[in-house]
Amino acid sequence: MGEVTVIQHPVVQHLLTQLRDERTGSQEFRHLLANLASLLTFEATRTLEVRSAEVRTPVGEICGSALQREILLVPILRAGLGMVEAMRQLLPHPRVGFIGMKRNEHTLQCECYHQSLPAALPDFEVILLDPMLATGGSSVAALGRLRELGATRIRLVNLVAAPEGIAHVHRHHPEVPIFTAAIDQKLNARGYIVPGLGDAGDRLFGV
Ligand code: PRP
Ligand code: URA
Repeated sequence: MGEVTVIQHPVVQHLLTQLRDERTGSQEFRHLLANLASLLTFEATRTLEVRSAEVRTPVGEICGSALQREILLVPILRAGLGMVEAMRQLLPHPRVGFIGMKRNEHTLQCECYHQSLPAALPDFEVILLDPMLATGGSSVAALGRLRELGATRIRLVNLVAAPEGIAHVHRHHPEVPIFTAAIDQKLNARGYIVPGLGDAGDRLFGV
């Protein structure tokens, strides 16, 4: 069975509650989403492998540590864009790839309209970013593309997840750990997370 970590930290939950509020405008939404992404980074990267690394300080030497592998951040467009810059600031020299997915509002099936990734991914720690895990269609399709390129170490970071989306990801990619700030009640008939926060892309970009 796949692994899900819900980050219950009080500051995370405070910011998430503000993010959900329908009165939160686009600029504040963008700011909150970025701060949440920063906070989730620590939990989502806790199990990254390290190797020892010797350094000389001004007063001595120490055997410290360094990340074993390069990190590739992959936001799912559009809403994942709101998470990427904050995580990029925190992580050491991550590379950034992009996958563009759009849900058909009627069928809820997602279509991939853009992909910009390194040619081969086996050596990367891949962190897939999307604030919303609703039906799971977008994430499952994106994970499939990453696997096709040879990625073996992938983690998925969301802000709000529906039980249906988690089950869908686990069914197709049980080896992928999921990190989220909340697991909400359910999906409504239009595939929106309830209570969720509405349309993350629209709220982030104002259109
Ligand atoms: C939203 C959201 C996720 C997806 C989640 O994107 O940002 O990518 O829906 O839904 P799912 O789990 O059912 O696939 P949307 O298709 O609205 O595109 P946008 O980010 O460009 O607004
Ligand atoms: N996409 C969103 O942005 N919000 C949802 O609730 C579901 C999909």
